Amino acid sequence: MSRPSAQNPPPPAVGLTERVTSFRPGDGRRPPRALGRRTSAQVLDLDGTWRFHLSGTSAGTEGFAAPQFDDGDWDHLPVPSCWQIAGLRDPAGTLLPRGQGRYSRPAYTNVTYPFPLDPPHVPDHNPTGEYRTTFDVENPGSSRWVLRFEGVDSMFTVWVNGIEGGWGTGSRLPTEFDVTDSLQTGTNVLAVRVHQWSAASYLEDQDMWWVSGIFRSVTLRERPAGGIEDVAVRAGYDHTTGAGTLRVEVDLTDTDGDTPQQATVSIDELGVHTTTPAEVHLDQVQPWSAEEPRLYALQVATPTETITLRIGFRTITTADQQILVNGRPIQLRGVNRHEWHPDTGRTLDEATMRTDIELMKHHHINAVRTSHYPPDPLFLDLCDEYGLWVIDECDLETHGFEQAGWRDNPSDDPRWREAYLDRMARMVQRDKNHPSIIIWSLGNEAGTGQNLQAMARWARGRDDGRLLHYEGDRDSTEVDLYSRMYLHPEEVAQIGAGTEKPAADPGADARRRQLPFILCEYIHAMGNGPGGAVDYERLFDTCPRLAGGFVWEWMDHGIRQIAEGGPNAGSEFFAYGGDFGEVVHDSTFIADGLCFPDRTPSPGLAEYAAVIAPIQIAIEAGRVQVGNRYDVRDTSAVSFTWQRYREGVVIDSGPLPVPVTGPRSSVVVDLPEQACQGDDDGEWWVAVVARVQGFGEVLPPGHQLGYGQVRLRSRPAGPRPGGVTPSAVPGGWQLGPGRFGPDGMLRSLGDLPLAGGHLDLWRAPTDNDLSTRGQAASWTQQGLDRLTHRTESVHAGDEELVVVTISMAAGGDSGVRTTYRWRSDGTRLGVQVHLEPYGHQGDEASTWPKAGLRFALAEQVSAVSWFGRGPGESYPDTVAATHVGAFTATLGQLQTPYVHPQENGNLSEVTRLELRGPRAGLLRVEADTGFNTTVRPWSAGALARAAHPTDLQATDVVWLTIDTAVNGVGSAACGPDVFEPYRLRPGRYTWEFTLEAG
Ligand code: GAL
Repeated sequence: MSRPSAQNPPPPAVGLTERVTSFRPGDGRRPPRALGRRTSAQVLDLDGTWRFHLSGTSAGTEGFAAPQFDDGDWDHLPVPSCWQIAGLRDPAGTLLPRGQGRYSRPAYTNVTYPFPLDPPHVPDHNPTGEYRTTFDVENPGSSRWVLRFEGVDSMFTVWVNGIEGGWGTGSRLPTEFDVTDSLQTGTNVLAVRVHQWSAASYLEDQDMWWVSGIFRSVTLRERPAGGIEDVAVRAGYDHTTGAGTLRVEVDLTDTDGDTPQQATVSIDELGVHTTTPAEVHLDQVQPWSAEEPRLYALQVATPTETITLRIGFRTITTADQQILVNGRPIQLRGVNRHEWHPDTGRTLDEATMRTDIELMKHHHINAVRTSHYPPDPLFLDLCDEYGLWVIDECDLETHGFEQAGWRDNPSDDPRWREAYLDRMARMVQRDKNHPSIIIWSLGNEAGTGQNLQAMARWARGRDDGRLLHYEGDRDSTEVDLYSRMYLHPEEVAQIGAGTEKPAADPGADARRRQLPFILCEYIHAMGNGPGGAVDYERLFDTCPRLAGGFVWEWMDHGIRQIAEGGPNAGSEFFAYGGDFGEVVHDSTFIADGLCFPDRTPSPGLAEYAAVIAPIQIAIEAGRVQVGNRYDVRDTSAVSFTWQRYREGVVIDSGPLPVPVTGPRSSVVVDLPEQACQGDDDGEWWVAVVARVQGFGEVLPPGHQLGYGQVRLRSRPAGPRPGGVTPSAVPGGWQLGPGRFGPDGMLRSLGDLPLAGGHLDLWRAPTDNDLSTRGQAASWTQQGLDRLTHRTESVHAGDEELVVVTISMAAGGDSGVRTTYRWRSDGTRLGVQVHLEPYGHQGDEASTWPKAGLRFALAEQVSAVSWFGRGPGESYPDTVAATHVGAFTATLGQLQTPYVHPQENGNLSEVTRLELRGPRAGLLRVEADTGFNTTVRPWSAGALARAAHPTDLQATDVVWLTIDTAVNGVGSAACGPDVFEPYRLRPGRYTWEFTLEAG
């Protein structure tokens, strides 16, 4: 078996502190290798509570590694953990008030290094964690003994019984030291010194919290002589014959060059029993895919060690600009996943990893890019087991050098070459046997240069059975995919059609044009959004070259904290950049995922799930088109039902027979006649739902795989209120139940204290709105956030109270004229609203966040029912997860708790809305044409001012907006702004609705 070039040379005589700034990746380490899932050799789990002390400089505590060192007054710290995160709690586990961390604090930056760009140096103040623990070895025997660290951030040195074992870097990669010669029978003392900053930190500038320590597991592993040091499995699948090919090679521990590297290899289930080097042809195997992750147990044994692995047969190629697995094109419906937990930082337990994967599977996600480092190895085992296509990305990013025009970028500096190669080798060697990994990625945002090229060439030499990826290689000269991030759909369409701008070099251009394309990052899920996912998906579905993409990103990296003051003192919130007093930070940009920090799905995840749903259903004129978007599976395990609704209530339903449809194909069936009928009595809809009948895996029977609905019959338009004449009363006007002030603004509706109705053109900006590409600044410039109102006229006609207002902002000379035509039948109060802007309304690209009216209701609202889109929030470019029906929610449920408070909770296409108090109905709003609405216990201004949800205090007024239209949400925080069809342009708008108390 070929060995990696990154070997372990003898430790040179470098002083401890000089190592911190060494270009070298480490010394005294063993060559990287793959572990089996299980081994018969002894494995001592060293995780637990260790002694810990934090020092402010790299030099640390004199003599701390000596066995007799007295650590009696040191703290206790769990291993694995991140000391900054663990230190946010007292020793009993209770969260400390913010700012009172016991150790150095977490810090968040995206691109900027949190230390000067002065490679390879780091500041003298270098938080340095010193760890001590003991372990017992009863009988070391003749075996070698190896200490294995799965992840230590960022640089560390190891001593056993006071004898140094070596040092290492590469935070998210494993490191092994042979400590046999320092071991003793009985109790041993292990000491580890970990520096937060080192030269290696320059290679780890990923967009995430800077947290340090021994954050993944530590084990002591017996290496019996003649045991299995490393194993490499290649299991291919021939889709034309169904045959499998198996190649297994091993390296054995401590054998001289003449001893054959031989082990037995068996897969009982397939009747395979052979010896290495093994080359086996199997007439029939079941292939592995993300949809049908068939694994086989493989055993490799020598007289001194037996290991087991789970393998999957699959072959990855590219042809005709497509990624093919087992001969079939695949479409990546992926997410970028960082490892994060709000209470443990970058240390994750198995349950959390399973939660992530199960949530992904439930939301139809089929691919993960391990942005931007190799994950905990267990996560990859779970990807093999559950079925996810994986891009395994190397622990490499030097983005901060971009701020200096990429000057001194390590990627092109030969002094860093060994460190680059070392990282790639350690990832590939550790992870090479996972069937789920189909693509190796060199890293992220590390510019360009010879060291990246060396990594790519090394990886290709070691493993030509997977594809190579690096987004920074714009001409794709070293990689197998054309990959970009955050492109506008127009540019994606060009790439899909092969009409993209050519690369500078014609040869490179010709080659790149043959490659499949992926968006390794797109639709930035920060705050409310992302919008427009469906526009990308449509392109992926129609252009074969477009192999899909990965949403940025899986979850918000919030840190659980307790509000100290304010209206909700004592309540929990999730901290973001700046909350720990960082000198430089990137604020809320760390909260940009499809899940909230506690892994509650955000509306963005529901939207993405609906957009990428594997079964597509479109109903038109009594016919249903069923599209199977699986790449491998047919629909034999999918059931279909139709449901007919009147006013959102199921009237009847039945099974819909759909012929079994193969992967990537569709079929059209007729709806039964009964399912297509509606009468004049209300609004009628028919829906078709596809559900899991039983795949025998993580999705439970009944889980929804696709949904489509269509309106059968609109509700007949009700009579417009009318017939009552407005009258002047002391202090204003009366029209039916409506009491108006002298300014023509509503004061009350019967006994209901419903007031206002002023023009409302502003929303609390979303994170997308607030970005430089977003619109919030233009809205402020237009003065939409500070409109003042002046009544121009109030005119009482025969059956109408006509009110005209002018809304303008301080300092501005343009505005909007609003004409209200109020009418009543004595019980209901109807209004037709007409907006007419005048004067300068911003530039051509200007938008309005919304066009509507705002009312204040001085009553307690406990529940809201509506007929319209639900059950969750929706905006023009995020409607996929909702459908039209009848819904009820509490006031609290209508507020989406984005980590950074912003516009949320819009309900769209609403034609009936009812607010209820704790004891009785309060207000009904109805319209023939659907409106948008929000119901909130605070104003948009308060929402905009809040830094965290705990800053929001419910008032005794409920704010109700009734808008004819709202702007989309887009992805501008890191991507394109709202796409054209979803933009709300300043202009004339007219709409009508009626109000009724009770
Ligand atoms: C990308 C980067 C990600 C993340 C994202 C914005 O450029 O690769 O790591 O920073 O932008 O959230």
